[in-house]
Amino acid sequence: MQLADQTLLRTEAFIGGRWCPAADNGETEVVNAASRDPIGRVPNMGPADAERAINAAATAFPQWKRIVAYERSVILRRWCDLVRESADDLAQMITAEGGKPLPESRAEVAYAAGFLEWFAEEARRAYGDVIPPHQADKRLLVVRQPIGVAAAITPWNFPAAMIARKAAAALAAGCTMLVKPAPQTPLTALALAALAERAGLPAGVLNVVTTDASTSPEIGKLICESSLVRALSFTGSTTVGKLLAAQAAATVKKVSLELGGNAPFIVFADADLEAAVEGAIAAKFRNAGQTCICANRFYVQQPLADAFARLLAERVSGLKVGAGDTDGVAIGPLIDERGLAKVERHVADAQACGGTILLGGHRHALGGTFFEPTVIAGATSGMQIAHEETFGPLAAVFPFTDEPEVIALANATEYGLASYFYSRDLSRAFRMAEALDYGMVGINTGMLSTPTAPFGGVKASGIGREGGREGMSEYQELKYICLGIDE
Ligand code: SIN
Repeated sequence: MQLADQTLLRTEAFIGGRWCPAADNGETEVVNAASRDPIGRVPNMGPADAERAINAAATAFPQWKRIVAYERSVILRRWCDLVRESADDLAQMITAEGGKPLPESRAEVAYAAGFLEWFAEEARRAYGDVIPPHQADKRLLVVRQPIGVAAAITPWNFPAAMIARKAAAALAAGCTMLVKPAPQTPLTALALAALAERAGLPAGVLNVVTTDASTSPEIGKLICESSLVRALSFTGSTTVGKLLAAQAAATVKKVSLELGGNAPFIVFADADLEAAVEGAIAAKFRNAGQTCICANRFYVQQPLADAFARLLAERVSGLKVGAGDTDGVAIGPLIDERGLAKVERHVADAQACGGTILLGGHRHALGGTFFEPTVIAGATSGMQIAHEETFGPLAAVFPFTDEPEVIALANATEYGLASYFYSRDLSRAFRMAEALDYGMVGINTGMLSTPTAPFGGVKASGIGREGGREGMSEYQELKYICLGIDE
């Protein structure tokens, strides 16, 4: 990787304000998601390293929580500015490690910086309450206090934004943090830590522990079971989220989980078809379909389903597949062979259940982990894709007839993260937004993420909210103070 600032390319982890190898000097290789060529090496840290990072965060906490919110805000703002100045380098790293096209990686850096900016501002607004007393000689107050050491376990699909979303909120609240990035994307995490250090973050306030795929579960467990860690924030699959929540239960820590989805994308017959197709592409094919809020089931009202599916296939056929750093590429590789096999399985199952492949359906001729952008018409509720998140570039179109039917279909899943619908009917817009059992609803848009709004799901899609006014509360405790006074 040729970066303008080569010092962002780190080969050591960041603990207690120092760049360090693993205690046993173990390392792991980081590969380019498109070519699978090695692009760097980082420490493969073990339990002793993770303990060291937790202790460093615990040691830094008393000092960091005492710093006035204004000063924490200034440091976060400086970190945000440095991230924006390094946007090209960070985007290059995100594309290399995770495979997304460069324009998407640049958008992710802007999104990450947006969280740093938002929480730099929110740091100064950790307001409490004054409650009318229940007795004349009492005065009642509620204050917000930082919860303590927080841990973030972050995914590979947004290697910068998910760290920024968690760390900015935690640090703004006055917590210190330990980040365990996904084994596939440690370089972006370390570059962010290098910029945080440059921004003047005191030693131990942010720590990054890198692992390989085999040590990752052990370190996750250690973090969950540590009584020093008072809050855990995880973004990833529902399966892993449930496991981490169970592991964290013994120490009764605050847990915030942003897990899997199975987003419905509903198009009513009164919708603007062109706009719906455009929104569908944004909601489905961003990051090659590898986001938790990617549309997974396209419900289209009859008699529009065929026209929608054909137009979608026509537009998607224009999306160029290739390495993310190639000009004009819109669809990069999938993260690994397992991800590719899942898309293949969903296509085969849809075909076996009577679906019609309008576009794609196969591994891409480029080889590696590339898959052809795929559109399937005539999808039905019995198909695997109706129940499982594909996490790949496959759009399946399910016809439906009326509003009650589609509400029932959309809600017939254990998941409840994002949902989308297109309609020009204002009354329906309210009815639908209220009826969908999801944490987020996009109406006439396929893109709803922003640092300023609460992001999160219901049911098996998670607990808690990130971003928005609510994001900082995941890292705060409310303390009620009852003061007896002389009348
Ligand atoms: C995710 O896929 O987990 C995050 C997507 C987003 O924040 O837009």
